[in-house]
Amino acid sequence: MIVLIIILIISSIGWLYILCRLLNRLAALSDRWISLTIFGGVFLFLTPFLFVFWFLELNFSVSGLISFNFREILNHNFYSFIFILIGFIAFSGELVRRKIIKKFKVRSIDKICRHQSTRNINCGNYFPKKSFWKYIYKIASMIPGNKINEFYLHIYKISFPGKFNSRLRIIHLTDIHFVKRISPEYYERIVSAVNECNADLILFTGDFLQNADMVLYLKPIFSKLKAKFGIFFVCGNHDIWHKRTHEKTTVNMLEEIGFIHLNGKIKLVEINDEKIYVAGTEQPWIKDDIVDKLAVLPDNSFVVLLSHTPDNIYKIPLKNIKLVLSGHTHGGQNALPGLGPLIIPSKHGSAHAAGFIKVKDSILYISRGVALHHPLRMMCPLEIACIDTIK
Ligand SMILES: [Fe+2]
Repeated sequence: MIVLIIILIISSIGWLYILCRLLNRLAALSDRWISLTIFGGVFLFLTPFLFVFWFLELNFSVSGLISFNFREILNHNFYSFIFILIGFIAFSGELVRRKIIKKFKVRSIDKICRHQSTRNINCGNYFPKKSFWKYIYKIASMIPGNKINEFYLHIYKISFPGKFNSRLRIIHLTDIHFVKRISPEYYERIVSAVNECNADLILFTGDFLQNADMVLYLKPIFSKLKAKFGIFFVCGNHDIWHKRTHEKTTVNMLEEIGFIHLNGKIKLVEINDEKIYVAGTEQPWIKDDIVDKLAVLPDNSFVVLLSHTPDNIYKIPLKNIKLVLSGHTHGGQNALPGLGPLIIPSKHGSAHAAGFIKVKDSILYISRGVALHHPLRMMCPLEIACIDTIK
């Protein structure tokens, strides 16, 4: 009996992987499907209850064909057996896939990129001070594993031997999702934490706004940001949705304070006689000709690409691109112990949740971002990345 229960648990987790992978693919396919991730999240929390119903022998059938009845499983019901077998295979397959990613991808990154240190950023009391959100955030912060109180600035060192030899400090910020219920002090703390790093370049990879009316936050808060060689950005899907409806757009506001918009554009930055090209794309939301523009760059150029979604790394020829910075996935927003993040709006699911990934000769960094518009970030702390290039 105990063995059967364990098999059932493993099989139901396997099915959870299958459904989450399907949701991730749909969310990556079209904006219309992104809201499905919310249903996916609800499903995630309902799963244990469904399992209990199942265990308590409450009969659940689909067109009378597949019957998930505990007693029937004991009686070797053929369809139930197939159902359990598929779940079991999916679970084992996912375990093997994760092991392979850990062993090969992480090791290959270790040679080029090192985690130097982590600063804990104390943000003070930025939770909502009024309305029922105050209680929602307060209660949510008490849930074990919820990391809405944890905010880190990770410092990494990366070398690009023979490609780029100057010392350069890049700050990567993404997915801020300005929202009214969070105190502006939180966003101001992000700005002061970034300024404390004395960045050479500040690179934003989109999703500035959660609500269109929050466009008014952009100028007063971001005008204080400082970077020696400029601040560049691309928009995220949320900004693009608002841009279509809002008169004073995110792009206008940011350009007015000196930010440089890279919607399918490439800008040259010269640092100590070395050239660095900063490129940006807003595909698949906005079509552009970035591929053609990248193709005419001189051989052995050093290009840093900003792309809101990490999935573009497999769509754009990587010839001169050495570093790709992305967000969009929020680290999966919520992860479960042992299972990791499940709902990720990427074709590549958990492989594109967060962190460094090596693709051919390029390095992709996916940040968990700093969004606090949802009161739940299970095992998914807020983060800013500081990338130092070394010889
Ligand atoms: Fe986002």
